[in-house]
Amino acid sequence: MSHDDAVLDPPIGTLFGADVRTASCSTDSARPEELLPAEAALAVRFGARRRREFAAGRTCARRLLAELGMPAASLERDAHRAPCWPAGIVGSISHGAGLCVVAVAPRRAIVGLGVDVESDEPLRDGLQRRVCTESERRWLAALPEPEQGRSAKLLFSIKESIYKCVHPLVKVPIGFQQADVRIDLATGRYTVTPIGTRPEVAVRLAAVEGAFLWREGRVLSSATLRAETRETLGP
Ligand SMILES: CC(C)(COP(=O)(O)OP(=O)(O)OC[C@H]1O[C@@H](n2cnc3c(N)ncnc32)[C@H](O)[C@@H]1OP(=O)(O)O)[C@@H](O)C(=O)NCCC(=O)NCCS
Repeated sequence: MSHDDAVLDPPIGTLFGADVRTASCSTDSARPEELLPAEAALAVRFGARRRREFAAGRTCARRLLAELGMPAASLERDAHRAPCWPAGIVGSISHGAGLCVVAVAPRRAIVGLGVDVESDEPLRDGLQRRVCTESERRWLAALPEPEQGRSAKLLFSIKESIYKCVHPLVKVPIGFQQADVRIDLATGRYTVTPIGTRPEVAVRLAAVEGAFLWREGRVLSSATLRAETRETLGP
């Protein structure tokens, strides 16, 4: 990790259990020339900033996969734009506010991972009604006024993490209104209650283990789905 990255590095590991490996780097210092040919082909139409973000994710992911003994290989995308992790691996990538964060784990104890980073700024006007459920909006309204916008942004980030964790397993759309999130500000943890989803989505949403933190102008969140729920989840 470079000095620059060390300064940027939030304690992402604390968002996950000890069996998840995490990495982060600055997206500004990412090197698109490190993309492998198949990845560079995917990024050919990207603008400069998106290409750096894409490269940052691939570089961090390769570092973590090497730690797990995996050979360096292209990390391509599926039809839903999710990374095609090597067999036996689950993972997640996010980039925002100048930072890229990646989490990976062997697909044994863990069957789904999601991570998200956003700037710690209020959720844009007009988005709250779209992103937040009725009970989330009641929770927001009870917070001190200056906290409401950034807490709405936290809910947004959490829902992005949930989506990245659960969507690859179910491959059906999951709407913002279908995951009702209950936040515990004291512990930095959250739980999810599914609303009106298909049973195979509902059982996974309800099983998500979630965490979040605010650090240096950013909000970060995670979602983990553990294998012990597999019997109830089915194949
Ligand atoms: C896919 C989505 C979650 C990405 O989040 P984002 O905040 O826009 O962007 P981030 O930088 O945090 O994440 C982008 C990364 O997500 C990953 N990603 C994209 N689609 C994905 C999917 N279907 N499943 C898992 N991961 C996905 C990719 O790794 C991507 O980075 P890369 O292209 O460089 O590899 C978002 O664009 C989206 O579609 N959201 C709407 C659906 C939703 O959130 N519903 C709420 C459910 S509760």
